[in-house]
Amino acid sequence: MENYSYFSLNDNKLIQTDSFIDGGWYESKTHFNVNNPVTGQTIAKVSNGSKREAECAVQAAKRAFKSWSKMPAHERGKIMRKWFDLIMQHQDDLSRILTIEQGKPLAEAKGEIAYGASFIEWFSEEAKRVYGDVISAQSQNQRIIVIKQAVGVVAAITPWNFPCAMIARKAAAALAAGCTFVVRPAEKTPLTALAMAELAQRAGVPKGVFNVVVGEDANAIGQVFTTHPDVAKFTFTGSTAVGKLLISQCASTVKKVSMELGGNAPFIVFKDADIDAAVKGAIISKYRNAGQTCVCTNRILVDESILKEFTDKFVEAVSKLKLGDGLSDNTDIGPLISTKAVQGIDDLVQASVAQGAKLILGGKVSQLGSQFYQPTVLTNVTPQMSVAKHEIFGPVTPIMSFKTEDEAISLGNDTQYGLAAYFYSRDIGVIWRVAEGLDFGMIGINEGIISNAVAPFGGVKQSGNGREGSKYGLDDYLEIKYLCMGDIL
Ligand code: SIN
Repeated sequence: MENYSYFSLNDNKLIQTDSFIDGGWYESKTHFNVNNPVTGQTIAKVSNGSKREAECAVQAAKRAFKSWSKMPAHERGKIMRKWFDLIMQHQDDLSRILTIEQGKPLAEAKGEIAYGASFIEWFSEEAKRVYGDVISAQSQNQRIIVIKQAVGVVAAITPWNFPCAMIARKAAAALAAGCTFVVRPAEKTPLTALAMAELAQRAGVPKGVFNVVVGEDANAIGQVFTTHPDVAKFTFTGSTAVGKLLISQCASTVKKVSMELGGNAPFIVFKDADIDAAVKGAIISKYRNAGQTCVCTNRILVDESILKEFTDKFVEAVSKLKLGDGLSDNTDIGPLISTKAVQGIDDLVQASVAQGAKLILGGKVSQLGSQFYQPTVLTNVTPQMSVAKHEIFGPVTPIMSFKTEDEAISLGNDTQYGLAAYFYSRDIGVIWRVAEGLDFGMIGINEGIISNAVAPFGGVKQSGNGREGSKYGLDDYLEIKYLCMGDIL
């Protein structure tokens, strides 16, 4: 074991570096480096699992499914509740691990641990609320009953932007439904996932029920997860481009699939809005996790009559955001996940300026280091510009204007994506028309942050399918079985 004093944890056993398969730690022949995005320094050498580890994990999950799916739901719920308690008891350590490998400010990391844990708590309770149905039969001697059963082994691939919550949101629903679970966390942020596995083990999650395969080769692991005949369901959070590929791979064994893919959220401010509240909502929605969030505001659309007032206030608020190391006090925005990401953001900003956008704030790689990008605001943006069309995934805000409610709706919907949208208005008529008119799975109305365990998270159009969290989230992990009983009379 290497020296991980760098993390300054209360419980050093939370730093694990091997895959977690069938209730044990599984070291691979080779290893890969996990780096701190602030310094580029290597913080851990992690087992480089691949096809073999993925297959072992699926087999372990298959073996465990027999007993886990049959265990009474309230007993599964008790184990999950213990897992939730342990995560919250270790919230400080988990947050440090998360910040050090991912970069987000410690306060946000703490929020993410609580957010991730809240799915485990919610589904530990919801496990016992899976109901069937009795349907009136068409013949006197028949009875028709519908039962719901766990789909089987679930495989998941999760992203680096929420290293805890994206795993918890899927695993909690899967385990509550009686499924067993294998996950490949992003190679940039495997340590949070492995710490969660350590706590799952301590909570008494039986061996094989929750497995984590860490490795750099996403293709090799993804191939197993999407084509293995013993995987019944595959779930992914990540880009739309990768999601399409994975869906096509799942077709060979006709897996149940749920996808949480990219977004291009409009944030619309109508003329009757509370402008200060809208500025506050836009800041939190846009700059949370340095803008590296699928649901974060991608474009701000403002009624032209309040454009100047909103823009001035927004720019002033953005200029106060402090860029820095997530471990330092008062940091609002941490580094981006890679220098490649920074380069992509800068290219987008420069291309938009060349297309006529006006740079009001930021617009450069920060002097703090090659993974930091200045919080940036662009005005005079048009729908044709790259910055309005692409999912930005960084701390850059394009601002556009509109003249009418219809134009606002049509600009908002002018995207292949349909994950989240936000708007601010105090007019009940505007609120209903716009909420119904926007083609998105989630709408924040006078709210910039809408994610929580009790609500259905998910998108329409090319933002994916299925829902995570809430009572609807369980359905994605359950099959409906119809029982027709004859010869009753
Ligand atoms: C995401 O970026 O996909 C997740 C964001 C959230 O859960 O709020």
